[in-house]
Amino acid sequence: MPTPPAGRTPAAFDRRRTTAVELDNVTFGYDRTRLVLSGITMSIPRGRVVAIMGGSGCGKTTILRLIGGQLRPREGRVVVAGRSVPDLDRDGLYALRREVGMLFQFGALFTDMTVFENIAFPLREHTDLSEEMIRDLVLMKLNAVGLRGAASLVPSSLSGGMARRVALARAIALDPMLAMYDEPFAGLDPISLGIVGQLIRKLNDALGITSVIVTHDVYESLKIVDYLYFVSEGRIVAQGTPAEVRASTDPFVRQFVDGEADGPVPFHVKALPLEEEFALHAG
Ligand SMILES: Nc1ncnc2c1ncn2[C@@H]1O[C@H](COP(=O)(O)OP(=O)(O)OP(=O)(O)O)[C@@H](O)[C@H]1O
Ligand SMILES: [Mg+2]
Repeated sequence: MPTPPAGRTPAAFDRRRTTAVELDNVTFGYDRTRLVLSGITMSIPRGRVVAIMGGSGCGKTTILRLIGGQLRPREGRVVVAGRSVPDLDRDGLYALRREVGMLFQFGALFTDMTVFENIAFPLREHTDLSEEMIRDLVLMKLNAVGLRGAASLVPSSLSGGMARRVALARAIALDPMLAMYDEPFAGLDPISLGIVGQLIRKLNDALGITSVIVTHDVYESLKIVDYLYFVSEGRIVAQGTPAEVRASTDPFVRQFVDGEADGPVPFHVKALPLEEEFALHAG
């Protein structure tokens, strides 16, 4: 389907922009009582692979939802390819979703559809391409992740690593300008994990897109990304290139890189002291 010329429709995103994603001093809370993100500022140049790292509940998925327009910031700016995301109308948001490929956290495949149909789904939903074009595109995407031979299988007959590769192919089915992967490595064995990491990098470079990976796997990220942001309790506490992160003496970064269970990121979720809790339940 021909892309409408930039500027003609309110939905046009400028793929030539050198900055793909910009968050400027973004503050967000799901409710009035608690801020989940405070003063988040990040700038993701086009063509790069960037990791957003941090412990459970620090706000990583929330950042992706703000970039994808599912949420609006309370304060600050969210700009994707030159467009202010919170200012988009319904058509604009629909266009944004077409331009942003997403691998959702726990995002399962449709279990009652074949691998082929899973990848065809976004194409059918967002384009009016002919069946022939859809078939060619689906096979190309499957080929890119090494699974063309699995097109007719159902998800229940795939290994975890294969299923994740199908999910990658689905995320890039519409040739997005931006791909966002929420925990793409979760639950994979070390070999599948390496394959998925390499694929994310290769797809990014081959398709000329920009990729954001949300993960707590610093080891895998360091091998494939250009830049890392570390988030803790809704704030960016460290950032840098893989070389800078490896050399960092920042205790927060070290806790991640060295895989310590406890450190600036506490192991325990905030709770009453154990004695008080026992006393409470005893009484
Ligand atoms: N829909 C929601 N309504 C209310 N609070 C939410 C909602 N989604 C997330 N939160 C809260 O916002 C905070 C950040 O959540 P978020 O899902 O962004 O964390 P995360 O960094 O992705 O964590 P994880 O690594 O466990 O996926 C958490 O405290 C969470 O409980
Ligand atoms: Mg999350």
